[in-house]
Amino acid sequence: MKRCARVIGSGGYLPETIRTNEDISKLVDTSDSWIVERTGIKTRRIAGEDETAASMAEIAARQAIEMASIEAGEIDLIIVATGSPDRVYPSTGCILQHRLEIQQCVAFDVQAACSGSIFAMSIADQYIKTGAADKVLIIGSEICSRLIDWTDRGTCILFGDGAGAVLLESTDEPGILSTHIHSDGGFEDLLYCPNPQVATASAKDEKGVITMKGNEVFKVAVNTLGRIVDETLATNNLDKSDIDWLVPHQANTRIIAATARKLKMSMDQVVLTLENQGNTSSASVLLAFNEAIRDGRIKRDQIVLLEAFGAGFTWGSALIKY
Ligand code: ACO
Repeated sequence: MKRCARVIGSGGYLPETIRTNEDISKLVDTSDSWIVERTGIKTRRIAGEDETAASMAEIAARQAIEMASIEAGEIDLIIVATGSPDRVYPSTGCILQHRLEIQQCVAFDVQAACSGSIFAMSIADQYIKTGAADKVLIIGSEICSRLIDWTDRGTCILFGDGAGAVLLESTDEPGILSTHIHSDGGFEDLLYCPNPQVATASAKDEKGVITMKGNEVFKVAVNTLGRIVDETLATNNLDKSDIDWLVPHQANTRIIAATARKLKMSMDQVVLTLENQGNTSSASVLLAFNEAIRDGRIKRDQIVLLEAFGAGFTWGSALIKY
């Protein structure tokens, strides 16, 4: 029998503090109605001063471990997707490994912006398929609020903080059916976040905040996500009607609706969290996946399409028989 990766647990964490559109309209020239109409976002969570990507990841990870009914020590590999790591190094994966009191597993980070959790899932899938790992913990954890210029109305309305987790295990049954990941560094200037500490002399004055040409990103995102839907269905020889759930990256309701239209899906089959979470970058897909698993919407044996698009540009999908 072929080895496959199956989801055995999931978790999610959102910080306590809620920032509303009204709160943001006191900082920049915007309004609740503009933000809701153009993005679908009403509120987002903001991490507390003492919280970090690793501290939030730990809470989500412990939930996933509990759901899977395993010991943390059984985990062979931890992959953390984050663009807001606690430190440049060690990796947030290593910090999380220590927090979970695991002595002997491999841990590292992947950086693929909003597509990070799909990239992490793809790597985990390869490790499991080849027999290099049996149990893999993947995490998306982000403190986007600390990478935001709170005077830039083009970005500060969009992002939020949080962490999502999924535990995968090897099985002989179908689980992850396929993953598809892509990168195109040619779009760097449309969406980036500088690191002023390591910048060249000419870029030293840049602030370490997210800079985005939103409208241009929007157009590429819609087209690219349409293409990845086709690629995923073709690889698996499936029809649009075979997909039970779409779990998209939560960047903008209009982008998500375009992907749902492409799949001829009703919005009732789409897991939406962005209204009260905003865009939590690499955490968003796993947070949404966890929510729909825990509230019983996603049931065993259903076919779930996860997809994401982000800075790089990076984009990807994972088709899962849950
Ligand atoms: N409030 C009020 N007006 C605004 C705001 C705001 N917050 N932001 C922009 N505007 C104005 C603009 O100045 C512009 O005014 P003008 O016509 O007078 O010039 C007008 O609204 C339209 O601006 P657009 O940028 O064209 O607005 P758009 O409809 O594209 O919405 C948004 C902007 C929400 C950012 C959208 O483009 C978007 O969601 N982009 C994609 C984001 C994304 O998917 N990113 C990838 C993942 S993130 C990651 O990887 C880290």
